[in-house]
Amino acid sequence: MLSSQRALFDMPRDVCYMNAAGWGPMPLATQEAGRAAMGRKGQPWKMAGALASTQNERARSAAAALIGAEPGDITLISSVGYGVASAGKILEIPRGSRVVVLENDHTTPMLEWVGRAPAGGYTIDTVKQPADGDWTAAVLEAVERPGAAPLALVSISSVHWSDGGAIDLDRVAPAARKAGAAFLVDATHDAGVRPIDVKKLDPDFLIFPTYKWLLGPYGRAFMYVAKRRQNGVPLEQTSIGRKGVSAEDTIYFRDIAYKDDARRFDMGERDHFVSMEMASIGMEMMAKWGNEAVVGRLSMLTDKLAEGLGNLDLRLIDKKFRAPHVLCVTFPKGMAPDLPKKLAADGVYAAPRLGRLRISPHVYNDEQDVDRFVEVFRKAAFQ
Ligand SMILES: Cc1ncc(COP(=O)(O)O)c(C=O)c1O
Repeated sequence: MLSSQRALFDMPRDVCYMNAAGWGPMPLATQEAGRAAMGRKGQPWKMAGALASTQNERARSAAAALIGAEPGDITLISSVGYGVASAGKILEIPRGSRVVVLENDHTTPMLEWVGRAPAGGYTIDTVKQPADGDWTAAVLEAVERPGAAPLALVSISSVHWSDGGAIDLDRVAPAARKAGAAFLVDATHDAGVRPIDVKKLDPDFLIFPTYKWLLGPYGRAFMYVAKRRQNGVPLEQTSIGRKGVSAEDTIYFRDIAYKDDARRFDMGERDHFVSMEMASIGMEMMAKWGNEAVVGRLSMLTDKLAEGLGNLDLRLIDKKFRAPHVLCVTFPKGMAPDLPKKLAADGVYAAPRLGRLRISPHVYNDEQDVDRFVEVFRKAAFQ
């Protein structure tokens, strides 16, 4: 199990921050790199010509390493939504087919398809939140439902943002494939934490940002695109997505063919050499620690939290169905709307999500934080 990494963060001892699923704090090293990079942008004449491309490829490789991909299968994008919109342009959803999504999934893996459904003549098949917390069984039931319309796409988060339910991708991916459907995974609450190997999983698209679990800045996200989808048309028409369009050439449009790999889908204004380096640092840290060690630490913390909250009038998803790093608390009589504020007044941070309290510790949290959380929570929620 990984030891506490608190010393790498700017986190006072009296702060109990358990909202990594909202915003992961940036390590001190990332903040320092950001400051130095801002200085470079202040004096651009001093910048090495290859700086941006070196940093782009460093970030691409770091993202690839987290999910077992090749760098050429990774696209540099600004948000998960950008990735899903790109997939929306690449995939064709046939009329009369259906798209499986999760009830109350985050807007990103869902609304792209919901919005296109009326004109596209296909239906949205929404998997209801399961009463027993077993999202995997519920998704499999929808994917394999006999007599349903042909399945064109399964577009889901691998960990549900609002209840912390974890989906077993290793079971859903082959079922989707067997049904002839494409598979899009929003791995926002997963990449870098639970192990993901795209070579084994073989999704069509897998997308994640850096600003939560990967301890990076806003505006940096990454999309794995399976080779079979790399012949699609990018969302934006850029020079960087083409084989030979260069402002420094004597002929501008020398070769407008798209690049052969996922680099063709890279976003415009990609060369953000301030936040690209910052994104790389968090991803590299997570890769160095490794999934097993990170999951070991975070499941120890969420188990202890569950134990501490265990004899209170609350409901938690069964351990075997929840993500190791997210614990969502349901209040049978409803959560007091001011509970998160009361906790924050005592330096304890968790997020209200759809009537639940989402508690999401990360590598900087320790047993002392858990004890503090339980003590402050008991008082704020029940006294
Ligand atoms: C499951 C999930 N997907 C995506 C996002 C972020 O999407 P985007 O990067 O498009 O803002 C979030 C943010 O909370 C999320 O919880």
